[in-house]
Amino acid sequence: MAPGKGILAADESTSTIQRRFEAIGVENTEPNRRAYRELLFRTRGANEFISGVILYDETIRQKAADGTPLVKLLTDQGIAPGIKADIGAKPLAGAPGETVTEGLDGLRERFAEYRKLGAVFSKWRAVITIGEAIPSPYCIDANAHALARYAALSQEAGIVPIVEPEVLMDGTHSIDRCFDVTRNTYREVFRQLAVHRVQLEGMLLKASMVLSGKNAPNRADPDAVGRATVECFKESVPAAVPGIVFLSGGQSDDEATQNLDAINRYAVRVRAPWELSFSYGRGLQAAPQKAWSGKSENVAAAQRAYYHRAKVTAAARMGRYSPAMEKETVAA
Ligand code: 13P
Repeated sequence: MAPGKGILAADESTSTIQRRFEAIGVENTEPNRRAYRELLFRTRGANEFISGVILYDETIRQKAADGTPLVKLLTDQGIAPGIKADIGAKPLAGAPGETVTEGLDGLRERFAEYRKLGAVFSKWRAVITIGEAIPSPYCIDANAHALARYAALSQEAGIVPIVEPEVLMDGTHSIDRCFDVTRNTYREVFRQLAVHRVQLEGMLLKASMVLSGKNAPNRADPDAVGRATVECFKESVPAAVPGIVFLSGGQSDDEATQNLDAINRYAVRVRAPWELSFSYGRGLQAAPQKAWSGKSENVAAAQRAYYHRAKVTAAARMGRYSPAMEKETVAA
């Protein structure tokens, strides 16, 4: 939660990175995944804006081309390594169209190993889908329960949990519907976190913004998103939670940046109690992935693109972004 900094979510599972690599024509092999993550982690100056990186199970064990553990590339720059602790969202029995996130079995032992590998924080992502008759209370309850059990185990291991109940932006729903679903979900998540004795001061919330559905008509503008998001959290997130980090969730990178900026501007006006930062995957990586496209001669261009996205997103995290910054040369 350092001022002016946020988190890079580079914890795509092997099947998720497959989709990202397909889009840029890169084969999804272990050496390509390593080369890509090494490119990001070796970007000079990224630590001005990035204080933590979430890793996938494979990545936390990998070494750079010169044999240096990827984790060490981060810690040498003062960047905290984190680990994706869940093993993905699976269909929820008896609930068509809904999922529950799995990964609790053996988690205590996995945390002990991740700690040895250097993880100081972790993340668990639950997925809530908005549809005509969903989310069901059953789905919210099952996911909140798993999030709370995960967070308790993470704290037991001395690893800061990032509790992520993502409300998907897919669909044609209004921003008001997203507000209601998000508020109801977070209230249940914090109820269960209390039951499971999770210390709110020792966790972060990873949140989705309160937005119109991706395919909604007349989508709400950044000012409306800023107001709705902060007002929704005031009704559902305890002030004891030190920070909230946003996912980008499939917004374009400049949309995610503008909305984060508007959220922070509104939060200052109403004296919101939490730090409001970012933990972007696509919002930070879409540009460098495109610039890289799997070619070693493009590494420097990809690093410039990543540095630029980190810089403008960090400005938005302080409510100091302006679209003119997008035109600044990407020559870092
Ligand atoms: P996006 O920012 O691409 O949504 O990814 C963030 C993340 O870590 C989701 O769990």
